[in-house]
Amino acid sequence: MEFSKNEIIRLLADEQNQADLFKQADAVRKQYVGDEVHLRGLIEFSNICRNNCMYCGIRCGNANAVRYRMSEEELIDTARKAAEMGFKTIVMQSGEDMWFTCERMCRIVEIIKKFDVAITLSVGERSYEDYKAWYDAGADRYLIRIETTDKDLYHRLDPNMTWQKRHECLLSLKEIGYELGSGIMVGLPGQTIESIAQDLLYLKDIKVDMAGIGPFIPHPQTPLKDEFGGTLDLARRTMAVMRLLMPDINIPATTAMESLHPMGRIWALQSGANVVMPNVTEGEYRKLYELYPGKICVDDTPLHCKTCIGAKIMSIGRVIGSGYGGHAGVLPHLPK
Ligand code: 5AD
Ligand code: FES
Repeated sequence: MEFSKNEIIRLLADEQNQADLFKQADAVRKQYVGDEVHLRGLIEFSNICRNNCMYCGIRCGNANAVRYRMSEEELIDTARKAAEMGFKTIVMQSGEDMWFTCERMCRIVEIIKKFDVAITLSVGERSYEDYKAWYDAGADRYLIRIETTDKDLYHRLDPNMTWQKRHECLLSLKEIGYELGSGIMVGLPGQTIESIAQDLLYLKDIKVDMAGIGPFIPHPQTPLKDEFGGTLDLARRTMAVMRLLMPDINIPATTAMESLHPMGRIWALQSGANVVMPNVTEGEYRKLYELYPGKICVDDTPLHCKTCIGAKIMSIGRVIGSGYGGHAGVLPHLPK
C-alpha cells in the first residue's frame, strides 16, 4: 500500500487508535502471507566485536562483557542439532569478529548447507567480496539493520562507523542476490516519529525481503545507560505500519519486544509479524550475548524454546511454517 510520509507519521503517533491499526495489520498479514509462522533457529556464535556502538552491550568498549567465540566445530554442531529439531532456516549471528575470515565462513556455510536448511548470516559489515563468496558458498539471506536513517543520529550512536557504508552494504547484499533482511530500533535518544517514518520509507525503497523492529533497551554497561528506552507500543505501531506498507515481506516478532512484556512476541504476531527466531544457542553463551538487559530465555535450552514458542503460536490459532519460509516462496539456492 502507498502511504505519504505524513500519513505514516499520523499512524505512528496515534496512540488512541492503535488497536485499529493492529487489527488492520493483522488482516493484511493474513491476506498476504497467511497463518503460517516461520521459525528460524538463531545461533549467537561470538560476542567479540570490533565496533563500539553506544547502545550495544557487546560493544568493544564494554570491558565487563565476558567474551566468547564458538569454534567451527561447535557452531556446525549447534546448527546440525537445530536442523535435526526441524528448523528449516539457521540464522548465524555474531559481533563483527574478524577471526571468522572469509574462508572460514565459507567452510562453515558449505557444511551447514548440507543439512537441508536455508542459511541466514548476520555478522555485520564486510567487503563485497566476502558477501559474494558466502553467497556462492550457499548463504541465502543476510540480516543487517540500518538502525536509523537519521544520519546524524547514526553517527552519534555508532562512532567510527558511517551510515553511507551501512547503506552500501545493504545495496551490495541485494545486488549479489541475497534475500535482504534489515530493520531499525525505535526509541533511540533523539529519534523522532518523523525519522521513524523516514526509516519505513527507506526499507520499502531498498526492497527489503524481511525487516525487524525492536525497541531500544538501555544497557547498564553502555554510555546510554541513563536514557529512556523505546516502548513496546511504539515498536508495535511501527511494525504494524510496516506491514501495511510492505504487505508480503517477512516480519519477525522480535525478542526485544518480549523482553519488555511476556506477551511481546504474541502481540507482535497479532499485529503484523509472521516470523519468530527462537534461540538455539546452548549453555552460558546465551547470557553472554547480551545486547540489552532483560533478554528472554537465557536459562532455557533450544528444545524448550522451540516447544514453548510452538505452543504459543498454536494457542493463537496460527500454524508453524512447514517450508523454508523465504520471502514470496523463494527457495534456498544451490551453492556455486
Ligand atoms: N536495545 C535493543 N536492540 C539492540 N540492538 C543492539 N543493542 C540494542 C539495545 N540496547 C539491536 C541492533 C542490532 C541488533 C543485532 O540488535 O538493532 O542491529
Ligand atoms: Fe524461550 Fe519461551 S521461547 S522459553
